[in-house]
Amino acid sequence: MPTSSLFSLSGKTALVTGGSRGIGLMIARGFVEAGVKTYISSRDAKACAAAEAELGKTGTCIALPHDLGTTAGVKALAAEVAARETRLDILVNNAGAAWAEPIDQYAEKGWDKLMAVNLKTVFLLTQALLPLLRAAASEDDPARIVNIGSIDGILQPTLESYAYSASKAAVHHLTRNLAKHLARDNINVNAIAPGPFDTKMLAPVLAVGRKQMERAVPRGRIGRDEDMIGAAIFYCSRASSYVTGTVLPVDGGIVSAAYTQIEFGLS
Ligand SMILES: NC(=O)c1ccc[n+]([C@@H]2O[C@H](COP(=O)([O-])OP(=O)(O)OC[C@H]3O[C@@H](n4cnc5c(N)ncnc54)[C@H](OP(=O)(O)O)[C@@H]3O)[C@@H](O)[C@H]2O)c1
Repeated sequence: MPTSSLFSLSGKTALVTGGSRGIGLMIARGFVEAGVKTYISSRDAKACAAAEAELGKTGTCIALPHDLGTTAGVKALAAEVAARETRLDILVNNAGAAWAEPIDQYAEKGWDKLMAVNLKTVFLLTQALLPLLRAAASEDDPARIVNIGSIDGILQPTLESYAYSASKAAVHHLTRNLAKHLARDNINVNAIAPGPFDTKMLAPVLAVGRKQMERAVPRGRIGRDEDMIGAAIFYCSRASSYVTGTVLPVDGGIVSAAYTQIEFGLS
């Protein structure tokens, strides 16, 4: 394989959950522009159709709206992909939700919602799509699963986001567990742990504390689309054929600097 092709994704097929906006849309755009036939999914059919139309201008994007907070929705999405494709090179488990409340009010339904969409769905969708992923996998170029975790699953979150941070820590460990067992099937499983990215999920935080947030990032800024796209392309290309079971913070240095920031008040 020539070095110039190491990061090529041309001709591959991918599914990006939560691809209608935010980080999922960033990754889906990066894939489409790299020549990947990209399926996206989220609950909002209108938003899915808008993303499909926008990304369709540069390549192939197909929206399959489903509620991935339910097992029925997960099964329906997997069945729709299987009806259209005989193989799937890339699965990005990105769809997710957040929930933060003071501990005395923290609602049980927050736990139920987040554990379903952020965690259980990552496993169930992976399981349901294994036949297609195995069909695409080879020793030289494994199929890829990329789970979107969070730096809140590594560090103490700033907000009281109990179910969210626990679900993301669990996603990181599930990633390692899946990587071990799927390596024999030539399927690599890795996770991206994003720091702050300007999406609907982070909008309420950035609205009141963008400057403070930027100061807390060693690189001094919020994440950009290309930061996320670069990490996703690495994890899905030949360049990372020998990389599995890892969690990559894409966070401008927050995780690695955490100790010094706490100790010396450098944030
Ligand atoms: N933004 C950040 O700074 C940040 C930092 C760390 C980690 N993350 C993680 O990155 C991922 C993407 O988040 P984001 O920031 O891009 O948030 P976002 O803008 O709120 O996007 C979330 C995506 O997930 C979809 N989704 C949510 N619930 C769903 C469900 N039940 N079924 C199907 N799709 C569902 C949403 O579409 P619908 O609402 O139409 O369903 C949307 O496409 C999440 O896993 C999040 O935890 C984000």
